[in-house]
Amino acid sequence: MAADKALDGARLLTVGEVARRSGVAVSTLHFYESKGLIQSARSGGNQRRYPGIVLRYIAIIKVAQRTGIPLEEIRETMARFPQDGSKLTPAQWKQLSSQWRENLDERIRKLTRLRDELDSCIGCGCLSLQDCPLRNPDDVLGRDGPGPRILERP
Ligand code: FES
Repeated sequence: MAADKALDGARLLTVGEVARRSGVAVSTLHFYESKGLIQSARSGGNQRRYPGIVLRYIAIIKVAQRTGIPLEEIRETMARFPQDGSKLTPAQWKQLSSQWRENLDERIRKLTRLRDELDSCIGCGCLSLQDCPLRNPDDVLGRDGPGPRILERP
């Protein structure tokens, strides 16, 4: 069915308009669509048309990607929300943000630790820093497993 208006009567956007306003290339929009992150309707001329809400979805996808949330996790979350232009309720937005809040808090915790501990021994096995003998004598932490054991401790 050809669509020129969203459910709420708002004009649907062309792929060019979405690309310009979101700052995302048309090819990236096609990629997001192929991954099920966003959906489009088709106009009478079989061209993609998007409801305005897609701009918010794309903004969230970009931020989520930048914070390292895997595309599949983004897709699972976005799949819960209507793509037909019907507005999301505040409760739905709250559910989305609370779901990612834990994930983001964990990333913030790790990044903060990286920032605060990068100039001291991170337990990676290199034994190259002055405080390595204190924090990781003879690479004893290597017995617990690979990687920077101090940086990755729970
Ligand atoms: S920084 Fe690599 S073992 Fe200390």
